[in-house]
Formats: sequence, C-alpha cells, structure tokens
Amino acid sequence: MRRWKKWLAATLGLAMVLTTAACSSSSTEEGKNEGPVTITFARGKDVTEGTKKLIEAFEKAHPNIKVKVKEMPADTGQNHDQLVTMLSSQSSEIDVFDLDVIWPAEFAKAGYLQPLDRYIESDGVDLSKYIQGALNAGKVDGQQFAMPRFIDAGILFYRKDLVQTPPKTWDELVKMAKENKGQGDTKFGYLMQAKQYEGLVCNFIEFIGAYGGRILDENGNVVINSPETVKGLKKMIEVTTSDFVPSNISTFTELESHTAFIEGQSVFIRNWPYQYALAQDPKQSKIVDKVGVAPLPSGDKGSAAALGGWMMGINKYSKHKKEAWEFVKFATGMEGQKLTAIHGGSGPTLLPVYDDEDVKKANPLFADKNFVDGISAAIPRPVSPVYPEISDVIQIEVSKAVTGKQSAEDTVKNIESKLKEIIKK
Ligand code: GLC
Repeated sequence: MRRWKKWLAATLGLAMVLTTAACSSSSTEEGKNEGPVTITFARGKDVTEGTKKLIEAFEKAHPNIKVKVKEMPADTGQNHDQLVTMLSSQSSEIDVFDLDVIWPAEFAKAGYLQPLDRYIESDGVDLSKYIQGALNAGKVDGQQFAMPRFIDAGILFYRKDLVQTPPKTWDELVKMAKENKGQGDTKFGYLMQAKQYEGLVCNFIEFIGAYGGRILDENGNVVINSPETVKGLKKMIEVTTSDFVPSNISTFTELESHTAFIEGQSVFIRNWPYQYALAQDPKQSKIVDKVGVAPLPSGDKGSAAALGGWMMGINKYSKHKKEAWEFVKFATGMEGQKLTAIHGGSGPTLLPVYDDEDVKKANPLFADKNFVDGISAAIPRPVSPVYPEISDVIQIEVSKAVTGKQSAEDTVKNIESKLKEIIKK
C-alpha cells in the first residue's frame, strides 16, 4: 500500500512539473512563475465597506496578487466550526483567514497555523508599535502565529438626538431606557447580544465585571461563584427580562441588534466600535449624525468592557504562503489598518494609526485619547486551547439565566462545577 502511494505521488508530482512547465502563467509557492496568484481570504460577513476597500488597495499595490474572499458566517462560533472542519482535513482551500482573538491558542496547538516569526523578522515588522495585549493574543509558546488586525471592546452607543447625556451606571441605564423608550421612532430602550453564542459570553463578562465578578483568576482558578458575579448577573437578568428590550432579545446577535439600531428602533445599544461606521453609512442607516459613544455603564466596581478583536493567520497548508504573508503584512500594517478604521470603523492595533487625521475624523472613539487606554484595560476571555468548551458551558448556563429560566445563584454554581471539571482534564 505504501509503495503504491509513493508511486502515485511520484507520478502525480511528475505530471505537475510537466503541466507547470507547459503553462508559464501558473505560479508556485516559490513564486518563480509570472502571472497573478489568487489567494483566498476567509472572514466573517462584513457589513461595512472595510474589506472591499482593503482588498482594492492591496491589489493595487500588488498587481501580481489577487484576493478572493470566502465569506464565513457572521456568528464567530459558526465561523470557528467551519474553519476547524476545513483546517483539520489539511485543506488548502483558504490561504489566509481572520481569527477571533479567542482562537490562536487552540489553532496553533492543533497545527493549523503557519508561524509568522520568520516573515516578521525578514521584513523588519516593528512589533513594539502594536498594542501589546492585542499582539500577545496571537503569541503561543513564544511564537507569533497571528497578527492583530483590529481590536474590539464593548461600547455604549446612544441616540444623542434623544438623550442629552449617556447613563453612567447600569441603574441609570435601566431608568433612562424605560423613560426614553418610544421617543422619536424608537420601540426599545436598549439592545444587546443575548442569543446563546459567543457574544453572550462577552455581554456576561461586562455585567459581572462591572460588579467585580470574574470567571478565572490570574492563576486559572475558577472564581466565578462569588457574590459579585451573582450581583452582576442579576443586573443582566433585570435588563434582558425587562420590557425595554425586544421580547425576543435571546435571539439577538450583533446582526439583529445593529440592524434594529440603524433602523432607528432603539435609544441605546451595546456593541463593538464598528457600530459607529454603520450608523454613519447613509446607504444603510436612518440615524446618520444622531449617534453618540460612551463607555459601558458602571456597576459598583466601575465600567467593564470585554476585549475582542480579530487577527490574521496563514493556513499551514496554503500553497501560497508568501503571497498570503504579503496580504497579512498589508492588512495589519499602517495602510491596511487605516482603511479598516475609516471604512470598517474598527479599532487599530497599530498605535501610530491613531495619529492619522482621517482616522480621527472617521470615528469619535479613535480621536478620544482615553480610547486606547480603555481598550487596553478591557477584560480578556480565558486564554486556553479548550476555550470553546469553556465558552459552551457559559453560553448554555447564562442563556438559561437571561431567559428567566434559572436563578443567578444556580447559574454561577453550575458554571463553577462544570468549569472545574474541564480545567481538571
Ligand atoms: C466580535 C469580537 C470577537 C467576539 C465576537 C462575539 O466580533 O471582536 O472577539 O468573539 O464579537 O460575537
């Protein structure tokens, strides 16, 4: 059997050499042949102009490389599962892909990612210019497996045509959402992400964080079962079961919530920075120039934002790694991040991009001196190669709580015992 396989490989190899020689416009990994190479870039659905503008600029700067987008699901969990199916079969269908900040540990350990250190070094990419937290999310066992493309943190957006000043505390938010619901054309006071998926984990971290609760401590011990976490979760339940959020809030991801907001249906929304660019897009939004931004409300321990964001990595089995790296370097470099900030509305990870006048104009968040500090203080989700298991437990349990089916106390107890088991393994 093995000999047969060897023969087949040799024959196929020879056939490939012959075809390549006969057809000079095709290309190889070494890039010896002329003619454009097409690389496939997988990323979640982009509702902004960001990806389009980024690729246009890249192709203009690199006439020999074309970028084809493979659109993945908007839901990061579904995106993750499709990627794992593809990458675990060593498929070369995609060359380069966006990774949620919570994936690099898992993907690097599974051998899906090409280490980038060699490219970074030979091209002299200055890593000290990046927000270090964002950079470190792509570092596994001392090697850089992914480069940070943009950074996310939970933000409060409000209709500045309807309320003068945004709420400072969650209690104020509850009060203002109740009182202002119905103003203008609004139907709701507040929108968030409460479906059973990754976004729910982010919203949960923010509520409990505001009251001093957390999931794991610095040493990875499970510390979720605390009065602080219970208090934060109770506030979350108060909001999700109120009459100022849509009655089907437990089906809302970013997509449902941002759509309702730009249609003018809500006074407040919790979302990621891209929400601003979307609200300012006259082709999609009914609320252009009517949106203000603020930190998320505080609990008794301050305001807490979940840290999110997306990185870029190269498929270990890509046949066009060199070209894929050119794209990674461009997208995560000065010009690419500028375009993503201006047209996609997402926060740069490369610090000098914040000094750019067009970037400052595009989103008030980026002109705010406190934004980088705030985002650097955002709360990361647990870093672990088994993060999907950890997240699943939180999603299932918190989902029961926010739909009013389980008390805050039972929820944190259940999460505690299940996480302890996962971590013991
Ligand atoms: C955003 C964040 C990402 C997070 C996701 C949850 O895309 O950047 O980190 O996991 O939302 O829905």
